[in-house]
Amino acid sequence: MKQFISVNDVPDIDSLVSKALQYKANPFKDKGLGTNKRIGCLFLNPSMRTRLSTQIAASNLGMESIVFNVGSEGWALEFEEEAIMSGNKVEHVKDAAPIFGKYFDVLAIRTFPSLKNREDDYSELYINQFIKYAGIPVVSLESATLHPLQSLTDVITITESFDFEKEKRKPKIVLSWAPHVKPLPQCVANSFSQWINAWDHADFVITHPEDYELSTDFTKGATITHNQDEALKDADFVYVKNWSTYEDYGRIYSNDPEWMLTQKKLEATRNARVMHCLPVRRNVELSDEILDGPNSLITQEAGNRVWAAQAVLSEILRSNG
Ligand code: CP
Repeated sequence: MKQFISVNDVPDIDSLVSKALQYKANPFKDKGLGTNKRIGCLFLNPSMRTRLSTQIAASNLGMESIVFNVGSEGWALEFEEEAIMSGNKVEHVKDAAPIFGKYFDVLAIRTFPSLKNREDDYSELYINQFIKYAGIPVVSLESATLHPLQSLTDVITITESFDFEKEKRKPKIVLSWAPHVKPLPQCVANSFSQWINAWDHADFVITHPEDYELSTDFTKGATITHNQDEALKDADFVYVKNWSTYEDYGRIYSNDPEWMLTQKKLEATRNARVMHCLPVRRNVELSDEILDGPNSLITQEAGNRVWAAQAVLSEILRSNG
């Protein structure tokens, strides 16, 4: 694996999931793989799980990790080519990224979208500029449109929670939109859709209010419905997530609390396990009763972030010497 930006960088999802689960069973089995290797983790935006799990994963492989909160502690970066830098941007990515390439063996980056201009965000300018100028493998810690480490984690969590051999059928997985108080990126929902479609081991349904359609680049292949009750019928997994509008970009059209998943709504499912990437707004996106109840996979899911990151870093190290 030369880089990890989307599911398209993964030749075999099941093999990567299996590798992650091997690390979960035996975290230090490749302790020597990252000896004398250093990963730079650059955060242009806040994080808890991604930051900590990536550092733990690197440590398990014997790598040194250095975190740099570029967004709050670094010089303001310019990303546009041929920019006349007379505003408040201090350093061009063209000058900064090659230096990261000298300091690190692997570069991991978090860059959120602006949610102001869809074309700009969906061009993935920021992470692509790092890839172009760093000259070392780049791992996405969540970019403007995708969150692949989260999605790999989600597939790992579903794999270990569903007995494929016993059930002899595909699980029904429902991605269910949830209300939120502020406009959030589409990254997690795009990425989850992209991975579940590529994985091809599930009946995949997406449910959201009208006008919250995601880009078909990611959802193609899924069943899409505005009827949440219908979608939840016989579900094995419900993945809860808010996102803002894609067409009329970055807006909130609905905050209907009826879309919040409750224990009552789970009665229509096959005792579905509930997932969320976190952080979650309690009693807005998800009810206390679900978050604190037996159907929640959410803490297990967040714990699995370590094994997803470790599997990816291991593949990057093996492929890039
Ligand atoms: N799920 C996730 O990416 O969490 P953080 O934003 O805390 O890293």
